[in-house]
Amino acid sequence: MKRAFERHLEETKRQVERLDQIGEALDIKLTGKKCKGMEGLIEEGKEIISEDLEANALDAGLIGAAQKVEHYEIAAYGTARAHANMLGLNKIARLLQQTLDEEGNTDKKLTQLAESIINVEAVEA
Ligand SMILES: [Fe+2]
Repeated sequence: MKRAFERHLEETKRQVERLDQIGEALDIKLTGKKCKGMEGLIEEGKEIISEDLEANALDAGLIGAAQKVEHYEIAAYGTARAHANMLGLNKIARLLQQTLDEEGNTDKKLTQLAESIINVEAVEA
């Protein structure tokens, strides 16, 4: 599970680079405006950590929290890609699609992780 999170952290750094590329291509500054929705999801994750949960239940909860983040990202990147397509910004749409593919793969991996080990053990505990 730790490896899955670390791998996605590396991907996330590349996704930020793609956003920088997009900003350059559009000649605009992407200043990193804070996203209230994402802040709320991170807060939910922190709540799970602060609860006195058994290790397996904690893992199950953290995977669920991480998947909420991925789904939120998929919605946001999907919208941005659709707008890029409608505006004929094909290169930008392709960059956003790469990120969307990574987010989708991460979500699937988290589902597999949850189904294969963690939730079953959490229920049995
Ligand atoms: Fe992500």
